[in-house]
Amino acid sequence: MAAKKTGGLAGVVAGETHLCTVGKEGAGLTYRGYDIYDLADNACFEEVAYLLLHGKLPTQAELDGYVNKIKGNRGLPAALKQVLELIPADAHPMDVLRSGVSFLGNIEPEGDFSNQSDVADRLLSCLPSMLLYWHRFHADNVKIDTATDDDSIAGHFLHLLHDKAPSEVHRKSLDTTLILYAEHEFNASTFASRVITGTLSDMHSAVSGAIGALRGPLHGGANEAAMELIEKFDSAEAATAGIHQMLANKDLIMGFGHRVYTTSDPRNAVNKKMSKVLADEAGDTVLYPVSEAIEKVMWDEKKLFANADFYAATVYHFIGVPTHLFTPIFVCSRITGWAAHIMEQRADNKLIRPAAEYVGPPLTSWVPIEKRQ
Ligand code: COA
Repeated sequence: MAAKKTGGLAGVVAGETHLCTVGKEGAGLTYRGYDIYDLADNACFEEVAYLLLHGKLPTQAELDGYVNKIKGNRGLPAALKQVLELIPADAHPMDVLRSGVSFLGNIEPEGDFSNQSDVADRLLSCLPSMLLYWHRFHADNVKIDTATDDDSIAGHFLHLLHDKAPSEVHRKSLDTTLILYAEHEFNASTFASRVITGTLSDMHSAVSGAIGALRGPLHGGANEAAMELIEKFDSAEAATAGIHQMLANKDLIMGFGHRVYTTSDPRNAVNKKMSKVLADEAGDTVLYPVSEAIEKVMWDEKKLFANADFYAATVYHFIGVPTHLFTPIFVCSRITGWAAHIMEQRADNKLIRPAAEYVGPPLTSWVPIEKRQ
């Protein structure tokens, strides 16, 4: 009975955090007390990363120093490049990042945790490098130099992907999604990272585990699944009919619903606005109307709202990111939240080991092998 009530640990308070509130009255999402809308409107992603990882908004001098530190950490060791080259072209890019982080833990081990914030900053710097070194090696048969001089992580990412600096609108759009994805309290991947950290394991292990959790379509993988859904329809009318049919079939519609939010996901409004701007810029007459049609049916029929992943999908599509790289972008952002939680867990650590309600057979006598049926 108790297990049923807490299925998926819904509503269970599993610890304390200073980092984030989700769905609290009056403020849909906050990072260290700052409203996500203020951060999306006014901050750059590096400021948000600093806020999460270093505990406060940076001064201009601190931000300049931080940007330089991130820029200086984008190079990949030769051994890691070799590993990335060996990972097959048809591997899932989330598996590439999981393996890349794990391998980095071998050649740049964390040691005694005294440099934990440097390890976090290194991962923040080099996750886009890892992903795009592997991607370009297989897609374009080139070995790129990942140490570009772009000031922002968003600019670095798009520069490596497209082999040229992005337009400011595209760079800013990616930057904003990085802010929105950065942190989200005890979501599945962050909780996974805290469980691993609770054993006093290293940051690379905790982040590798978190990437594995984020990969699934019920979590970060939803942005790729949402894009695949949107692309199935060639008009708003077809989408309306198609989603009705899917609901009748009891199919899950990716990019909708949320464990904590009940009436809306605050990140959706920002992503939807960006998607519209980018759709207009691209002269799109299909994907955005299809997205709105899906959103309308989901609300009218199920009172389910688009979550952060739904319009993020078309934002990424319009800025030229291939669909299989959507969820890895989430990693390049959420590394900030994960690492902040890892450090918070360590600061007041207790092994995380809950109990289960046993529902198996009663105590049973041993049966010798020759008497078993
Ligand atoms: N499409 C269709 N129905 C959905 C749905 C969706 N995206 N999300 C929830 N529902 C329905 C469920 O089928 C269930 O219906 P029922 O009560 O008739 O069985 C009800 O709404 C409650 O959903 P449940 O799965 O119990 O909620 P949850 O808190 O366990 O799951 C999610 C939350 C996010 C996993 C779930 O909404 C989902 O799978 N969404 C799609 C994947 C996604 O977008 N993930 C990214 C999250 S940010």
